[in-house]
Amino acid sequence: MSALPKSPRFLSVANQKGGVGKTTTAINLGTALAAIGEDVLIVDLDPQGNASTGLNIDRKSRERSIYDVLVGEASLPEVIVPTAVPRLSIAPSTLDLLGLDLEIGSEADRAQRLRTAVFGLADAYAAGDDRAGPFSYVLADCPPSLTLLTINALAASHAVVVPLQCEFFALEGLSQLLRTVEQVKHGLNPELAIHGVVLTMFDARNNLSNQVVEDVRETMGDVVYDTVIPRNVRLSEAPSYGKPALLYDLKCPGSQAYLRLASEVIQRERQMRAGVAA
Ligand SMILES: Nc1ncnc2c1ncn2[C@@H]1O[C@H](COP(=O)(O)OP(=O)(O)O)[C@@H](O)[C@H]1O
Ligand SMILES: [Mg+2]
Repeated sequence: MSALPKSPRFLSVANQKGGVGKTTTAINLGTALAAIGEDVLIVDLDPQGNASTGLNIDRKSRERSIYDVLVGEASLPEVIVPTAVPRLSIAPSTLDLLGLDLEIGSEADRAQRLRTAVFGLADAYAAGDDRAGPFSYVLADCPPSLTLLTINALAASHAVVVPLQCEFFALEGLSQLLRTVEQVKHGLNPELAIHGVVLTMFDARNNLSNQVVEDVRETMGDVVYDTVIPRNVRLSEAPSYGKPALLYDLKCPGSQAYLRLASEVIQRERQMRAGVAA
């Protein structure tokens, strides 16, 4: 008899600053996890839909999106579509998400819509719905805000992955994110943890980059992953071909860094679970 599918681990990729590498991380960490055998679902929560576009899900084929799930007009399995990457699927976004607050802002369960949808995946799969997985990881690509969409992601998450760009003001605004995480932890989701901080767009030739890595490690300590994502033009080119960097150029330094990050994420997962069991 095969084991019942477990609920997936849910990680949010979040930082309310734009342009820090959230979407690049969601796509390439997701692809790297899939490449090492995990079954991954990316939930695109940004109305801009960059994760959906970067995975070649064109707007015309996004008849249904995560918006329909959040407003209660579709189930999550109904909007999941496969990508060109084996073991990687996506629940795409549409611009409709911009209106989510207006649509459900006064509903009592407005912040728990995604949590309910994701918790239902394992049951839907067990009931015979193949679109529902089985997934071992769900990664949410959050928008650059701390509004209802990000709150839905945090309320559904086991942990948060925080990309920080190696720039002068890297840590600025981080306290706001951490405060929001604490608030969600005290209310909607007591299990929420910080999975790790990933430094992105590191430029070894730039003294400032080195200084930022040092400062962030000193301030944030062990929560910062060992893996640092280099600034690599292949990472920024790949989305225009509708491909994750790992498919576009597996050997480039950016792809290799995301593969290392994926092993580190899995290693931390084991530690976090062992911590829970202890
Ligand atoms: N490591 C990197 N090297 C080079 N360009 C990057 C890297 N990470 C992200 N970018 C580029 O920087 C821009 C912002 O990244 P993105 O992942 O979209 O950030 P966010 O989702 O936080 O807004 C994009 O054009 C992306 O291609
Ligand atoms: Mg983004």
